[in-house]
Amino acid sequence: AGQTQQPPTGVARNTSTRTMTSIKQELSALFKAALQQAFPDANEVPLVEPTNQPKFGDYQCNNAMSLFGRMKGKEGAPKNPRAVAEAIVAALPSSDIITGKPTLAGPGFINVRISTEWMSEHVRTMLIKGPQTWAPTLPYSRVVIDFSSPNVAKEMHVGHLRSTIIGDTLARTLEFCGADVLRLNHVGDWGTQFGMLIQHIAETRPGGLGGDEITTEDVGDLQVLYKASKVRFDEDEAFKQRAREAVKALQGGDPQMLAAWSRICEASRREFQALYDRMGIRIQERGESFYNPLLKPLVDELMEKGVAEESEGAKVIHVEGFPNPLMIQKSDGGFGYATTDMAALRQRIHEEKADRIIYVTDAGQWPHFDLVFHAGRKAGIVSESGAPQLDHVGFGVVLGMDGKRIKTRSGGPSVRLVELLDEAKGRCAETIRERRKEAGEEVDEAEIEASSTAMGYGAVKYADLKNNRNTNYKFSFDEMLSLQGNTAVYLLYAHARIAAIIRKANRGDILELAKTAKLEPQHEKELALMMHICRFPEAVTQTVTELMPNRLTDYLYDLSDKFNSFYVECKVVGSEQEASRLLLCEATAVIMRQCFSLLGITPLYRI
Ligand code: ARG
Repeated sequence: AGQTQQPPTGVARNTSTRTMTSIKQELSALFKAALQQAFPDANEVPLVEPTNQPKFGDYQCNNAMSLFGRMKGKEGAPKNPRAVAEAIVAALPSSDIITGKPTLAGPGFINVRISTEWMSEHVRTMLIKGPQTWAPTLPYSRVVIDFSSPNVAKEMHVGHLRSTIIGDTLARTLEFCGADVLRLNHVGDWGTQFGMLIQHIAETRPGGLGGDEITTEDVGDLQVLYKASKVRFDEDEAFKQRAREAVKALQGGDPQMLAAWSRICEASRREFQALYDRMGIRIQERGESFYNPLLKPLVDELMEKGVAEESEGAKVIHVEGFPNPLMIQKSDGGFGYATTDMAALRQRIHEEKADRIIYVTDAGQWPHFDLVFHAGRKAGIVSESGAPQLDHVGFGVVLGMDGKRIKTRSGGPSVRLVELLDEAKGRCAETIRERRKEAGEEVDEAEIEASSTAMGYGAVKYADLKNNRNTNYKFSFDEMLSLQGNTAVYLLYAHARIAAIIRKANRGDILELAKTAKLEPQHEKELALMMHICRFPEAVTQTVTELMPNRLTDYLYDLSDKFNSFYVECKVVGSEQEASRLLLCEATAVIMRQCFSLLGITPLYRI
């Protein structure tokens, strides 16, 4: 476990040393036992949730009402929901997580209080053994996550940025839970755009495709190349025809064409990789071309099995309930986006042994994936039971403050992503520099570089992640860089402030302190903070179950809020409870850092 004075160590992947599941899971196990004992025939799944009225209890079990409804009228059935609740309470095994007697409220809610000692001990253990010991377990292990996936030679747009940010956070969170995650970049490197591009190069470059080998410099500015060839493609019918021929030659394995293709991909790859490196994103490229050899055999097999059929010269899979079939081969014999996705689905299940496959793209692609998933089931690639679990993680559009598609200062139809990162970082550097000057402190350029990178990139990521991904959101530098509210900047400062408190106390190694001192929260705000810290595993579970990163950002923002309420009312340094309160500060900082790590944000230790 790291200590707030030092940068944190990496995220552990081993959950075998788990020291806590979650309060909710612990309570669910207890209520499950009680339900089984009190109503053995009901086969009831425990419904346990945190209460929204802490006055009456911390968590509640809500089974009594529905259970009563189902038993009503049967012989020996309890006479009202309260009687059901009473029977559940009577059968509840004793445990040290619940303190006092459970109480009943309303028609039959069972309220319980969580033991302060239980939480204190778990927090202390977490400090000693590290937050990874609180990672929830998952009912699956091998996960394929398909994200980012820009198209070669086309603009990597804000939608791809969203996919990259959301996909990375989901991958990090699944990895934290111990999943074996394969992060795949399904790059569009095999489309018809290549015919157009290569034909354009062939016709405009001195010597055409022959002569000197094509260098990466020849395709240096892919945007320019793409735009120029697109204009010709749209305006010149004869060129269009030649471009089509070029695609066929490429797909037929023409060596000159392939050489040009691979140069273009290389140039594109360099650009993408530069962005991933800046953002600290790990992803493995496995573009559409990877699946090319698998396409024809797959289509043949699906035809043979009768899963696919001919329709107006094309080959399609009809799926009940869908107005349009999935086209797996065009009438001109070509394969497309859908064929590749069918082949990829099979490869990921059969060869990668995926238990869960997640696709992160804009919401507009949902109909495509819905159809692919159903066709996969019809083809027997996905089992009848629905295994593996397939998820499309969709997201809305990014808008400028004017409510329209965003533009940068340099204009253009969509933004160059590096410009976004640069501007965010630049603005942060300015703010930090001013702050230092105001405080009369020395300006350390290396430190400003590191801090402004962490803040600027963190701000861009966080602004995206904090929204319910299904909604469109407005991209605003002023908002995302604000010191107030739910922003990365605010949270990074909050973390740095806690680090400063711990430094000021000057008690040496906090880890050593955790081994000797206890957490003894008494003040209501201390208790609320500790309870929230203990809820971290629940936030993680929710995030990976719903695939909603905003569950995690909401949790983190609440954590910071609970810390502030505590700090306003409870003196830490120099108080009688200093040791206990320092441990609470450190636990807050450790969990904050764990959240930052899952969100791909680098923490700051100094304002
Ligand atoms: N390249 C596609 C696009 O830019 C996204 C690919 C998503 N992944 C997939 N397996 N289809 O829209």
